[in-house]
Amino acid sequence: MTKEYEPRIIGMEELCPFISDNGPDVNYISSCVQSLAEPTMLNHSFFTSRDERTNSMIRRTPPYTFADDRLVEGVVYNRLARLVGKFLDVSASRLTSPITTVGHVYHPGDESSEAHVDYYPSVTWFLQCSNDGGELVIAKNPVARTIIEIEEDAWVVKPKNNTIALFDGQVLPHYVRGVPKSSNLSRVSINYSFAHECSPPEFGPDRYLLGKRLEWMNK
Ligand SMILES: [Fe+2]
Repeated sequence: MTKEYEPRIIGMEELCPFISDNGPDVNYISSCVQSLAEPTMLNHSFFTSRDERTNSMIRRTPPYTFADDRLVEGVVYNRLARLVGKFLDVSASRLTSPITTVGHVYHPGDESSEAHVDYYPSVTWFLQCSNDGGELVIAKNPVARTIIEIEEDAWVVKPKNNTIALFDGQVLPHYVRGVPKSSNLSRVSINYSFAHECSPPEFGPDRYLLGKRLEWMNK
């Protein structure tokens, strides 16, 4: 896999030009996500699954949560979602779509996420990181079919608080390693997905988050 597919981690300082105030209150948002996340048993029959298990348990928020001002007092939507939307040139109205924002939580002792490829271009925002585990593991081999095959040759992204990760999740199979019982923190993140029509047509959905976007950022 060529270097252009290497994941990119972006810190708050790079996002500053897109922030009109002091930025999101990450601790507050993280506690909202933790209180709203519900254990969900996923069975892996979906065609994007790349997992040898038949099912797995994840903790996630309902998908509408972050577009609903009543639930989180507008803070998440008005600051964080809008910020990411601006950053990616996605219109804010898109961020009210039910597929756009889902929070994920891994408590100590939780198993790994399902291995999969994404339906849509997506962005991961790390809010809180565990002291151990919780790495985002991204296969360099687009035809890796299981966690074992992903692990054979992968980029391993150790989450850092308040950073976002960009990578081509529609092409590269990936998963999140579980957090060991011995960790004294949970891993908390928000995933933003963007419908294909958000991508400028000249970029194409698969090239949107990496490629042109990164070229522009590196200028
Ligand atoms: Fe994904």
